[in-house]
Amino acid sequence: MHLTRLALTDFRSYTSVDVPLGPGVTIFSGLNGEGKTNLVEAVGYVATLASHRAAQDAPLIRSGAEQAIVRAAVTTAANDALVEIELNAGRANRVRLNRTPLTRPREVLGVLRTVLFAPEDLALVKGDPGDRRRFLDELLVAMAPRYAAVRADYDRVLKQRTALLKSAGPKGGPTRNQQSREAVTATLDVWDVHLAKAGAELLVAREHLVTALRPHVESAYLAVAGPGRGPAAIAYKRSFDSESQDTGRGTHGERVRAAEAELKAALIDVRTAELDRGVCLAGPHRDELELSIRDLPARGYASHGESWSMALALRLASFDLLRAGREDPVLILDDVFAELDAGRRDRLAALVATAEQVLVTAAVPEDIPGILTGARFTVAAGTLTPDAC
Ligand SMILES: Nc1ncnc2c1ncn2[C@@H]1O[C@H](COP(=O)(O)OP(=O)(O)OP(=O)(O)O)[C@@H](O)[C@H]1O
Ligand SMILES: [Mg+2]
Repeated sequence: MHLTRLALTDFRSYTSVDVPLGPGVTIFSGLNGEGKTNLVEAVGYVATLASHRAAQDAPLIRSGAEQAIVRAAVTTAANDALVEIELNAGRANRVRLNRTPLTRPREVLGVLRTVLFAPEDLALVKGDPGDRRRFLDELLVAMAPRYAAVRADYDRVLKQRTALLKSAGPKGGPTRNQQSREAVTATLDVWDVHLAKAGAELLVAREHLVTALRPHVESAYLAVAGPGRGPAAIAYKRSFDSESQDTGRGTHGERVRAAEAELKAALIDVRTAELDRGVCLAGPHRDELELSIRDLPARGYASHGESWSMALALRLASFDLLRAGREDPVLILDDVFAELDAGRRDRLAALVATAEQVLVTAAVPEDIPGILTGARFTVAAGTLTPDAC
């Protein structure tokens, strides 16, 4: 698939911009702070309904404006689609697909699939477990959009169960809301069932994903870092004791049911501690995607360059998985070449050059390997100028 057009109104630093795009490589160059990342961030938003660098939508709306609009025209072998997203300050966002309003914004997920490489990806290796869980969940949704609903269900149950735990009051303190711990406990039983059900589905899906991703990460790491530099490995670690994870046997349904039973049992084990601390201590929100290079944890051990290569390997592996048997997702490389040595730059460029559409940003165009040639735009002060070839 590829984008044929991206139009922004009051998005980030842009008042109004309309960019024609085509298959192949498109390069956006310009000085720091001129709006290169803002452009590709908008593309990523159309694919994921989230920014790769802002947790909230507010910074995406141009300062002083009430609303931002992102329009993207997507072409696949099967059809053309026009996605229009209205980001509203203090109100719900609205999404239209081919001019028809969608009941839920998340129905648009899957229309555009992207893999975005960005400097922020270093957090996949060096950051908190939450960064790695988000990586898995976003990839899961890109692979199968129905997981957006599974994820939303789990988040809702987790929020309500956590609120209930907090309402029991801190250990030894006066019980708030005149609710005795016994009353909370009875209600907790019900929420345990919901949490285990939604949680098991999410975590087993993540485990399947990690199993599928593993060989791609291993080979992508070697491809980027060079022969003899690995092996790199990934593993999913549940937040609770589990026999069924280790055996890895059974159909998808059987694995979900086994995980559900184990998570329910784990919740009973940790209940006293949960009531004391007012937090939910078992479930996929506390699981970890473990990354290692030559059998050492990447976090805390890997060098800066190795961490970068690991982050790139995770993105390249995502690209491999997303394109297998389907149309290529749009590849976005935001400012990644500046961080790499010449060998890694060239190897990465060779790996991505075959994608149907590649959008590349760079402050220094010379950093982009020669193999990536195509349309070029200079980005300056909120305007785009096509470069004469
Ligand atoms: N909501 C907003 N309203 C107005 N301007 C904004 C908003 N959000 C970001 N900006 C401006 O956008 C600019 C950053 O744009 P962007 O991150 O796209 O730069 P860049 O070209 O990628 O730079 P670099 O080469 O440093 O990565 C900053 O000057 C910032 O002040
Ligand atoms: Mg940038």
